[in-house]
Amino acid sequence: MRRPLIIGNWKMNKTASEAGAFIHDLRERLPASPNADVVLAPPFTALESARKALGPSSWISLGAQNVHWEQHGAFTGEVSAPMLRELGCRYVIVGHSERRTLFGERDQDIQKKVQAALTYGLSPILCVGESLAEREAGRTESVVTTQLTGSLAGLTTEDLATVTIAYEPVWAIGTGRAATTEQAVAVHRSIRLFVETGWNSETASAIRILYGGSVTPQNIESLLASDPIDGALVGGACLNPESFATIVGIAQTRRA
Ligand code: 13P
Repeated sequence: MRRPLIIGNWKMNKTASEAGAFIHDLRERLPASPNADVVLAPPFTALESARKALGPSSWISLGAQNVHWEQHGAFTGEVSAPMLRELGCRYVIVGHSERRTLFGERDQDIQKKVQAALTYGLSPILCVGESLAEREAGRTESVVTTQLTGSLAGLTTEDLATVTIAYEPVWAIGTGRAATTEQAVAVHRSIRLFVETGWNSETASAIRILYGGSVTPQNIESLLASDPIDGALVGGACLNPESFATIVGIAQTRRA
């Protein structure tokens, strides 16, 4: 049974001190022994204070929102996987649609980021998803398959064991218009089939596939009621401790 996973992607929100205050508030609202995995992905500048606020034995993990594929060097403004590891990160989001559309990331860049994350012991959270025009043109599955093919090229079954895939339709991100459970389930099924075809059925049944895009305390229950959806990558609703704790609480009651 796959354990539910809820990730809060803070995007470019909260300073270091705001992160500390947020986490103290959030921890008060969450149980001591959870039935779900939770990851917080603050901006780079807040990782250190987030780690301090979580404490050494926290069951909540830290993730970063991006990583460069090189270990070090002349890459002004970039941050590498070993740097993130040393700050206590266990996860890193790669290929978010905002990185793809606003910063020109291509599948071959994302593939190198996935590899770098794996090399340095970070679990990649690979984001894929189609635009509205692509959905309306009936191209959802082919777009997602192309993204997966490019981004996961060369990975072994052992590598896949630490990868999470997040299906985030671009039209659902920040719009208040989440995919319906049926729409999300259809894409989740095709992603799992892609993994089964490219690797094997054991890997496909073990990999966690999340949904992201306007997830709220109101719609999380119906999304998670569907077996192929293993959790959520939450944007706007993760910035408020009450709504994020509610989402985590609902995820916990789902599959213990
Ligand atoms: P929203 O939840 O704000 O739609 O953002 C989703 C997202 O992009 C998470 O990575």
